[in-house]
Amino acid sequence: LIPLYLSRTAFGSYRYTAEDFISPMVIPPEYYGRTKHGRRIFDLSLQHGTTEFFKGYHTPTIGINASYLGPVLRLKQGEFAEFNVKNNLNMPSTIHWHGVHLPARMDGGPHQEIAQGQTWKASFEIHQPASTLWYHSHLHNYTGPQVYQGLAGLFYVDDEFSQKADIPKTYGINDIPLILQDRSFYKDGSFRYVSNMHERMAGVRGGHILVNGVTRPLYRVQKKQVRFRVLNGSNARTYNLHFSDNREFTQIASDGGFLQTPVRMKRLRLSSGERAEIIVEFGMNDDVMLQHEPLPMNNLGMGMMAMMMSGDNQPFNIMRFASKNPDGDVVSLQAITYSSPILNPEDAIKTRKFQLDMAMGMGMMMGRGSGGGSAFSINNKSFDMNRFDEVVNLNATEIWEFTNNSPMPHPMHIHDIQFRVLSRNNGPADPNEQGLKDTVLVNPDETVRVITRFEHYADDRYPYMFHCHILEHEDQGMMGQFLVV
Ligand code: C2O
Ligand code: CU
Ligand code: CU
Repeated sequence: LIPLYLSRTAFGSYRYTAEDFISPMVIPPEYYGRTKHGRRIFDLSLQHGTTEFFKGYHTPTIGINASYLGPVLRLKQGEFAEFNVKNNLNMPSTIHWHGVHLPARMDGGPHQEIAQGQTWKASFEIHQPASTLWYHSHLHNYTGPQVYQGLAGLFYVDDEFSQKADIPKTYGINDIPLILQDRSFYKDGSFRYVSNMHERMAGVRGGHILVNGVTRPLYRVQKKQVRFRVLNGSNARTYNLHFSDNREFTQIASDGGFLQTPVRMKRLRLSSGERAEIIVEFGMNDDVMLQHEPLPMNNLGMGMMAMMMSGDNQPFNIMRFASKNPDGDVVSLQAITYSSPILNPEDAIKTRKFQLDMAMGMGMMMGRGSGGGSAFSINNKSFDMNRFDEVVNLNATEIWEFTNNSPMPHPMHIHDIQFRVLSRNNGPADPNEQGLKDTVLVNPDETVRVITRFEHYADDRYPYMFHCHILEHEDQGMMGQFLVV
């Protein structure tokens, strides 16, 4: 019998050894919608349910067309998509399309709240290239708790390149989603969300790692070469992924699509909201763990100190892969080259600077909505739904510069667009950050510059959001709004 370590805030996953990883892996269903008058239509229901993460414990959860998480929505570049999002929850909610280029009023942010019992209709054309995007709740002040309970899912865009390229692409066979989330539980099996000041400041880190909603999963590999689309769907935790035998793997895509050339690596850092597509090769009889390795001290700042106190500076196991005589081909990935549009800094007509701060004094004693100002700010401002922080001109190419003055890393995300990372502290970005991205980790004392172009959609009433993707930071005001006009 596997010990559950329920109600221990942070220690479940640290104690599980390879032998504990025997839960069959679950792969979320794909959902292609239906076509009508040339449009692709998706019916999504936000609903309550229960999920048995631990045998005999029925955790109250929420999901999309399911009790926890949602289906993988499948779309193609050039298609016109329509979504009927019915809120069957006993509370308001929203569904935001993270990474999708779309009109602001279709974005599903805090301005598109769906009341209980109501259906929100969103529709937009898919302009962007093949990519692994996702969707999740973005309810004003309650994004963290709603995502924690399960309101999230994947959104795949395909295009001609992704359909023709010689890469693994059979869903569920050699193209496998891995949604990483960490959760804590009370003794009765219910989720344990924020319960103390440390969690409110550092963000909520659970002690049990879920992959596609499964604790301690064992994935039985069928193919010699498998593509994993990894989403860090955790509220706050950054993972530094590697395999227990230190094998090399290849990253082929980041948040917004394929890299120009694949990158060989042994470690993959993924912060909250980021995605990476990696390709892994398996032998005749492998039994290997995907693990988290603590990040170097200088990447963690005060978060590190806080995590040391909670025991979070230790490595832990995430999932297990076992292969027995896998079949299929192994194609050379180094040959794949992809040309995505280059954004030239010389074309930028403006540089916007954003100072990221966390007040460490009395500010941190105040919870959300306490009126006395928030502990988290961007350019000394806390989120205000009635204030437009930035106004961008349609078709402008701009550089956005994030400077982190706080002792903890912040994954910064911009709605509507995909950007390129120009630099980290004037040095180059990491090799796997050379493709299109919508979320980028900004470490303490770091300035990260990104470049993007705001195209197609203008609206002088509805804004887009930009924010830290640690959902507790976002909910406590580390977010701003911009209009594209
Ligand atoms: Cu993943 Cu503002 O969102
Ligand atoms: Cu987003
Ligand atoms: Cu943050």
